[in-house]
Amino acid sequence: MSLQAIKYTRGSLTILDQLRLPHASIYVPISTCEAGWDAIKRMVVRGAPAIAIVAALALAVELVDIKAAELEPQQQRQRIQERLEYLVTSRPTAVNLADAAGKLNVVAQKAFEAGEGVVDKYLEAAEKMLVDDVADNKAIGDHGAQWIVEQAGDAEVAVLTHCNTGSLATAGYGTALGIIRSLNTAGHLSHAYCTETRPYNQGSRLTAYELSVDIPAGKSTLITDSMASSLLRSRKIAAIVVGADRVAANGDTANKIGTYQLAIVAKYHGVKFVVAAPRTTIDMKTKSGEEIEIEQRPEEEVLVVTGPRAKITKDGVEVMQEETYTVAPGVTGGVSVYNPSFDVTPKDLIDAIATEKGVCVKNAQGEFELAKLFA
Ligand code: MRU
Repeated sequence: MSLQAIKYTRGSLTILDQLRLPHASIYVPISTCEAGWDAIKRMVVRGAPAIAIVAALALAVELVDIKAAELEPQQQRQRIQERLEYLVTSRPTAVNLADAAGKLNVVAQKAFEAGEGVVDKYLEAAEKMLVDDVADNKAIGDHGAQWIVEQAGDAEVAVLTHCNTGSLATAGYGTALGIIRSLNTAGHLSHAYCTETRPYNQGSRLTAYELSVDIPAGKSTLITDSMASSLLRSRKIAAIVVGADRVAANGDTANKIGTYQLAIVAKYHGVKFVVAAPRTTIDMKTKSGEEIEIEQRPEEEVLVVTGPRAKITKDGVEVMQEETYTVAPGVTGGVSVYNPSFDVTPKDLIDAIATEKGVCVKNAQGEFELAKLFA
């Protein structure tokens, strides 16, 4: 795996600072829950699965560091519960974080009741999440790729993706970007397009970077968000593939802002719309998208752009010192900012949900039967 967002060995966690990508690859140490919480909130690490794993491992290294295994079992149990409750408050929309915290809490409780080492069991379970996520993503990628190729009836397909769902947003391989990787590995990818994904630019800064590393040159193209309709009208696109932050029980899907409008555009153009998500992103307790809390991000993310000043030379773009630019007047100019980080795509606009257990499509009544994935 060429790109790695999370590096972990027992007692040590470092994460790639995604605020500095693609211009600098800098790993920052995370040794406490406060540092993990802050990294998630500021989006030093982002993407639903990656957030959950960093939170779980931040607590793991903290427990090792403070020698929590030497505390009384009751104290170990209580500390784990309190720290998980705190970590979950960092970002609200992606359910993977709450899902991971809930599962780890159960592990700690069971160990406590069985008289086993509470911290040891927590460490084992948190570390397993890192391993399982990569395996799940490979399965999602293969299932999703096969489904798209079958639907298209072509040996080679072009796809469009949004936001970043790759190695940087997960423990590795990625979900929607995992489908693109699997298409490429199987020789079925003709072209991958990605949107820039304003305002945080996960598409241009992260996905385009991942594509440049892992997909052969000439097989990927970056577009601005406003070009999607034009692209679907002018080029043959087999599917739009996106990730998810929370899939409700009925299939309504919260994902990066702009996903909903892509689904509408896909429907108009008769292009398949595929959500790629591990089962940890499916929230059977949330009945529909109406119930999903959408995180509002600071107005600065819309008003300013941070990156290195660049000079265009005959050899390309020369990257210079990192700076922050304002790109709009903002509140001081009498214009306010609306910055929801996610939107909800209704299930009616979604053709398939690709999971590690296979691809789920709607039944004759137009309903996804997601509960079957957990049977
Ligand atoms: O705000 P972000 O960058 O955390 O949002 C990320 C997304 O919306 C991704 O599409 C989603 O988390 C799936 S990542 C596999």
